[in-house]
Amino acid sequence: AALLKGLDRAGKIISAVRVACRVPLTVKIRSGWTADSIIACDAAKIIEECGADAVIIHARTVSQGYSGSADWDIIARVKQEVKIPVIGNGDIIEAQDVFKMMEMTGCDGVMIGRAATRNPWIFRQALELEKGNPLFEPGIPERRALIMDQYQGLTACIGERRAMLCMRGLLLKYTKGLPGSSRFRESFTQIRDLDSLVSVMESYFRVLEDKTA
Ligand SMILES: Cc1cc2nc3c(=O)[nH]c(=O)nc-3n(C[C@H](O)[C@H](O)[C@H](O)COP(=O)(O)O)c2cc1C
Repeated sequence: AALLKGLDRAGKIISAVRVACRVPLTVKIRSGWTADSIIACDAAKIIEECGADAVIIHARTVSQGYSGSADWDIIARVKQEVKIPVIGNGDIIEAQDVFKMMEMTGCDGVMIGRAATRNPWIFRQALELEKGNPLFEPGIPERRALIMDQYQGLTACIGERRAMLCMRGLLLKYTKGLPGSSRFRESFTQIRDLDSLVSVMESYFRVLEDKTA
């Protein structure tokens, strides 16, 4: 993000990377440093001139961090300025927002950040909506499969102990709003390894299945 304060330098770096690599080159920027220095359009033009294949705009300033709202108007303005694909980012909270952002800004694609960590099914939901199908709601088999997959992946990457701690946070997100989820949370202290994770998860899913039967 610091390169937003030195667009010449950013341009030199992008040009050098362009020469050095053959794979598609995309560049992600914030809208500016502060609300008084919105430079996304200038930056996007430089990014295009320097040979990038697409530009991604996180429509918040650096000083905003993750607070406040993303200003989608900036994405629309960038879209008017460049010919390369513009990918909008910031505040896609649910699948429907994908289409709202594309319609409001004319952007060519979207990038989803935090919402995907709460709802990893958001991509499938957006694809189904795009096909004209109703909103996909993950059932117990999908939730179970995702949890097991992530636990195994995390264990392989960071070891079982840290994976367990991560999984507690993820389980909170993946069961938020479901019936009995607060009681389920209380049983997290029993999670010590894969066996206890499976047993805690399965007993909760059995309760859910009974409630929804
Ligand atoms: C866990 C996490 C990791 C992220 N890592 C990166 C990163 O490595 N590079 C980057 O440009 N943005 C990163 N971001 C920012 C997101 O790409 C995105 O710009 C930001 O979250 C705003 O989009 P959102 O409102 O959909 O969350 C990260 C965000 C999260 C939540």
